Amino acid sequence: MGITSRLPPSSTPDNTAHIAVLGAGAIGQLMYHKLSVNTQAVQANDVVFIGRDKLTRQQPLSFIDHTQHTHESLAAILGTDDDRLVRIELLFVCVKAYQVEQALIPLLVKLSPQCHIVLLHNGLGPHLPVAAALAKHQGQGLSLGTTSQAALKLSQWQVKHSGFGVTQLGHYCGALISAKLKARLTNLHCDNQPIEWHQPVLPVLWQKLAINAVINPLTALNHCANGQLARAEYQPQIRAIIDELVQVAKYDGITLDKAAISARVYQVIDLTAANFSSMYQDIAHNRATEINEINGYICQQAKLDHLNVPINQSLVDKVLQLSQS
Ligand code: PAF
Repeated sequence: MGITSRLPPSSTPDNTAHIAVLGAGAIGQLMYHKLSVNTQAVQANDVVFIGRDKLTRQQPLSFIDHTQHTHESLAAILGTDDDRLVRIELLFVCVKAYQVEQALIPLLVKLSPQCHIVLLHNGLGPHLPVAAALAKHQGQGLSLGTTSQAALKLSQWQVKHSGFGVTQLGHYCGALISAKLKARLTNLHCDNQPIEWHQPVLPVLWQKLAINAVINPLTALNHCANGQLARAEYQPQIRAIIDELVQVAKYDGITLDKAAISARVYQVIDLTAANFSSMYQDIAHNRATEINEINGYICQQAKLDHLNVPINQSLVDKVLQLSQS
């Protein structure tokens, strides 16, 4: 396949909806490719990455889709001082949960107040400081989301679409996402990848939190693939993690159906049986984990509500210990 550049030159008058992705990990690159593939025919040159430094550059990328077809392209990575940041209408934040605040908040003043921001990460918590910063400064609208699509980084700029799943999004604060941008995201429906909009969005994110609170620390601590957690020996621990989470969520005003949550957790264990969770991989590659935003968020909220969550607390302690060792 030919190489296409997606850098909109600053001198070009353009009325297209510019979409940017912050975070070029596996999910960030997957989102970039999905959004670009779906818009090439009608609106080329309007999906970009935002980089970590001031330098704007072009980056060759390779994407292996679910049919094993390889797409080569040339992406624009806008530097953090690039004046084109103000043209971005939709920003997908795909960095790890613990990087959101540091990566996003300094950028807010460079974005247009009309830009809509979507946080897409495992765990919960970063939306709170981001919402506070938005209220104080530019006032951009904020949506939150989660995806169960999976992608594998084969090298820094080569990503393979490795699993199907639903992407669930919903409004959190500020201006609502415009109908035009919502329609652009609906384009991600290709290959039977559903996009669902939920209002309110927090119950959906707590449900995903339950999946990550079970699978991520248990696979990391037991050095196993997700499917191993279906074994009977893990059942008491899984039940206890979910019991504690459901109780904390209730104090936070979110009523979750324990049986439905448990069924969903076991369904994901089954659907992703051969996968190694992101936390397993973070530990294996000596990277920081999202434990503070997953089981740690449950502990943090429990503390505010004077609840005890010993199982989740012990998982946080053990994972932190494991990452330090
Ligand atoms: O973090 C992960 O690995 C994924 O969110 C999930 C769903 C647990 C599958 O591995």
